[in-house]
Amino acid sequence: MRKYIIAGNWKMNKNLSEAIQLVSDLKNELAGKTLNADVIIAPPFVNLETVNSLIKDSVIKLAAQNMHFADSGAFTGEISAQMLKSVGCEYVILGHSERRTIFGETDEMINKKVHQAFANNITPILCCGESLEERENGKAFEIIEGQIKAGLKDLETTQIGNMIIAYEPIWAIGTGKTASPEQAQEIHAFIRKLLTELSNEETANNITIQYGGSVKPNNAKELLSQPDIDGALVGGACLKADSFRDIVLSV
Ligand code: 13P
Repeated sequence: MRKYIIAGNWKMNKNLSEAIQLVSDLKNELAGKTLNADVIIAPPFVNLETVNSLIKDSVIKLAAQNMHFADSGAFTGEISAQMLKSVGCEYVILGHSERRTIFGETDEMINKKVHQAFANNITPILCCGESLEERENGKAFEIIEGQIKAGLKDLETTQIGNMIIAYEPIWAIGTGKTASPEQAQEIHAFIRKLLTELSNEETANNITIQYGGSVKPNNAKELLSQPDIDGALVGGACLKADSFRDIVLSV
């Protein structure tokens, strides 16, 4: 059985004291609740170590928002998988559309990062998604297929089975314009079919496929009730403990 996983991508938000406050609030909001989903938060790099020490006695798990694909070396400004592991990261978000479009990350770089994450026992959360123009030109399926095939290139079936996929249509990110549950389900079912081809049916059926793009407390339940939507990658709504709690509790 696949797991529901709700992840909060803080993006470039929250300084150290704000991060401490948000994590403390979130722990309080989730304390004593019965959760049907795993909960992950992805704070900025500089807050990871502190956040890790604060979540040790909670159900919350830690992710990074990005990393480099090399082990170490002359890569000014970059962070390695081993560094992330040493501060408690169990997950890393890779190939977010903001990394692809603003920072020029290619499918090839993202694939190297996926391999590097596995080499360091970090679970990758691989993002994919089409732009508005691509959707309007009927290219959404083609774009997503390309991103997933390239991102998963040369992985073992067991590795494919151990990753998380996040479908985030670019036109729904930070816009308040969410994909309808039917639009999202259509893509998620397509992704699962593709994962079946790339691994096998049993493996694909156990992979968590998250939806991301303006997920809020008022739309989470409907999105998450779709058969192939197994979680959410939340941006804006994870920056407040009560709205993130409501999304977590909507499954
Ligand atoms: P929003 O929830 O702010 O639309 O962001 C989604 C996202 O990009 C999460 O990775």
